[in-house]
Amino acid sequence: MNRWNEYIVKNKNRFLEELKQILSIPSISNDEEYKTQMHLCATKLIELMMQAGFDIAIIEETSHHPVVFGKKIINPELPTVLVYGHYDVQPPDPIDLWHHDPFDPQVIDGSIVARGASDDKGQMFMHIKALEVMVKTGSLPCNIKMIIEGEEEIGSPSLPEYLNSRKELLKADVILASDTAMISMEHPSIETALRGMAYMEVELIGPNRDLHSGVYGGAVANPINVLCKMIASMHDENNHITIPGFYDKVKELSKEQRGEIGKLPFDGTEYKKELGIKAVWGEDGYTTLERAGIRPTLDVNGIWGGYTGEGAKTVLPSKASAKISMRLVPDQQPEEIANLFKAYLQQRCSPGVTVNVKYLHGGKPIVTDTETKGYQAAVKAIKATFNKEPLKVYSGGSIPIVALFKEILGLDSVLMGFGLDNDNIHSPNEKFDLVNFYKGIETIPFFYKYFSENKS
Ligand code: BES
Ligand code: MN
Ligand code: MN
Repeated sequence: MNRWNEYIVKNKNRFLEELKQILSIPSISNDEEYKTQMHLCATKLIELMMQAGFDIAIIEETSHHPVVFGKKIINPELPTVLVYGHYDVQPPDPIDLWHHDPFDPQVIDGSIVARGASDDKGQMFMHIKALEVMVKTGSLPCNIKMIIEGEEEIGSPSLPEYLNSRKELLKADVILASDTAMISMEHPSIETALRGMAYMEVELIGPNRDLHSGVYGGAVANPINVLCKMIASMHDENNHITIPGFYDKVKELSKEQRGEIGKLPFDGTEYKKELGIKAVWGEDGYTTLERAGIRPTLDVNGIWGGYTGEGAKTVLPSKASAKISMRLVPDQQPEEIANLFKAYLQQRCSPGVTVNVKYLHGGKPIVTDTETKGYQAAVKAIKATFNKEPLKVYSGGSIPIVALFKEILGLDSVLMGFGLDNDNIHSPNEKFDLVNFYKGIETIPFFYKYFSENKS
């Protein structure tokens, strides 16, 4: 056992207890009611970062939720890794489906279960502990800076301004983030692409009040009917998206690239069984892994209007709304896609109904460079602790700040995530396997080791 492992084994219970402290703070970024909790979580992180051995850890105010910044500089001549994570979480709803309070973390079947366990508090915290391991064993080979944002789950609205104003403070050689997943512990992998995002909210307004659906039904356009029809028309019979211009900038992958995806371990039967579905769905001409990784999508996230209470109430509603997200791939641009979406609805809306479309947030897609020293260091680190070469996976998820790191700071990111697809992120009973948690803490020091070897 190397001395890193020795230190981890000796302190593993304390690591878990500290993680629980972070997980018990409901740092929900999309709800103003949790503003104090956001601050509380940031403050707690600073305390834990100082204990772990950072030189400084501070709260940086932004125009919305604070960013936590910390650094450990051992020698300015050595390379600097900027670690990224986020302390904000998604709301826990639907709350009834949790087996216990989402902010009362519990260990069940070898996993820590709580909102944020995998996305991203558990994964972000591995980095704080990995720094502790290296500092306390006197083996840190490079400088470390860390930023932990509080707006990832809402599209990082203040982050462009923050990054622009902190170029000097954030100066580094590479970004290292654990906010993604692996295929499995048997098939470790590194995600090399993230999809972009355009998140829209649509409101349709018909008559000036809810109407009796007998007195007026059939004679006045029903906003919910109109909304459903427009949404349904956004996919054709082959499940292609019909918004004119939507695919114009999509870069098709080469045969070789698609061939590589085809070789990844994937069991369709297991996939369906795990999700409780009888069949998969998706765009004609693409496999499930392609549909969920390299192709753009359009999904309704929520839809409401009219009467949704107990029993029947006959009503022709005055309004209907929906939240719709589109996942984007290179080189689709979020603002352009948002505009195409808006135009589509405005042109197709029935007379007698007004449509308002809001662009809530967006992020650009990104493909990371696998020829970099950073990526190669991650490959070697994973080989060191998993004894296997990590596979390359196109992620279906989005982390808007990754494209901003490249654009504003000129930095490449390495997405060395330790989550699993069945961690239930954004769902009830989110979990993070403790095996993955400790494996992450064990692997990260190797990244620093390999990244620091003869800096190029
Ligand atoms: N960590 C996820 C993104 C992710 C999940 C990447 C799984 C790879 C695998 C992140 O916290 C997230 O949920 N992002 C949002 C972004 C959005 C709000 C702009 C997402 O993907 O929905
Ligand atoms: Mn995340
Ligand atoms: Mn998330």
